[in-house]
Amino acid sequence: MQGTGQLKKDFGNELKVVMIDEEGLEEKLYESLKKHELPDYFLYTGVGGARNWLNLDESRTFPVARKLKALLEENLVSIVKFIPTGMNLASIGVGNGEKERIILNGLIKKNEEEAKSESEEEKEAFGSGRNRKIHYYPIDINSRMVDIALEKVKDLPVEKKGIVGFIEEMPFLKKYWHLPVLFCILGNTFCNYEPDFILKLVGENLESGDLFMFDAHIFPTLEGSDEAKSVRNKVLATYSSRENALFNMYPLLYYGMAPEDFEFELLLSHVESETGPLYSTHKTLQILNDTEIRVGPGTLKFKEGDVIKMGFTYKYTFEQISTFLNKGGFEILRKFLSEDRTNAIILARKHL
Ligand SMILES: C[S@@+](CC[C@H](N)C(=O)[O-])C[C@H]1O[C@@H](n2cnc3c(N)ncnc32)[C@H](O)[C@@H]1O
Repeated sequence: MQGTGQLKKDFGNELKVVMIDEEGLEEKLYESLKKHELPDYFLYTGVGGARNWLNLDESRTFPVARKLKALLEENLVSIVKFIPTGMNLASIGVGNGEKERIILNGLIKKNEEEAKSESEEEKEAFGSGRNRKIHYYPIDINSRMVDIALEKVKDLPVEKKGIVGFIEEMPFLKKYWHLPVLFCILGNTFCNYEPDFILKLVGENLESGDLFMFDAHIFPTLEGSDEAKSVRNKVLATYSSRENALFNMYPLLYYGMAPEDFEFELLLSHVESETGPLYSTHKTLQILNDTEIRVGPGTLKFKEGDVIKMGFTYKYTFEQISTFLNKGGFEILRKFLSEDRTNAIILARKHL
């Protein structure tokens, strides 16, 4: 997945670094589908992928990222208190960049307030807080999302550089950052990765002065209680909604597969983990009739009964996330839970 790291576009005075060869994505899709796999990042690619995610995020039946945004807004003041002045913001999987605008507004306000309270001697010695320009890096695999996120903050006094790249390429992405950074993964994206993988990746690529913030839609307790059953049913309803099904079916529909030739199946089941059993979604596309589609370099033939494997979402309890973080070398500085304990924002740093 290694990119080119070339600077491709001047966005006014904001540069955008493009590390993904978008044309090459179609070939990757072809290779994946040949193995009967459709990794979730393909759902977000191209003009259609950006539009589909933005529509899904607005749909009544899929409030996952929206509820996390509400939690961020409710707790912004406390979150910002824990972020030292002078931190830059790098946010990956930025989507439309709404949450980042909220965070940046909080950070700018904090800088300004600190600048007001500084003595003349402090200003002379360390520079005014007002002059500590925040650097902002909206990062996404979809170039259009990066454009939207840049546009969203065009009136804010921050230095901007959009990056089109994969999170998996974090060692290359971070070459563009001014340190220290608040590194964010928002919109429940953390839960789409194996916890060991994502924590190792983030841990290896953050410096000791950096902070890590992510959000997650979680389970309040494990199986057994009525509360857990009710959350389980809601999760199933959300993820098997028509809107989410269409979002997941889009790549095959786009390449011409007829809707009656396949269906989206979503299961929610327990999987074992080092922190005990946890819930995971299992998504597949089930081929109902022999069919073929043309994708990029070739034609793909599917037979009735074939199953195309897709990505997953883990549904942790807060305690499970906390154990994974601890094992992965992170300490939680602050946690913010919704009243019903189904949404969480976590601010962490690497163990010193
Ligand atoms: C669930 S959306 C979350 C968007 C936004 N952060 C929010 O909270 O609404 C996931 C975002 O991550 C991007 N994305 C998906 N896979 C990615 C990857 N491997 N690397 C970087 N970005 C990715 C998608 O294009 C999309 O914008």
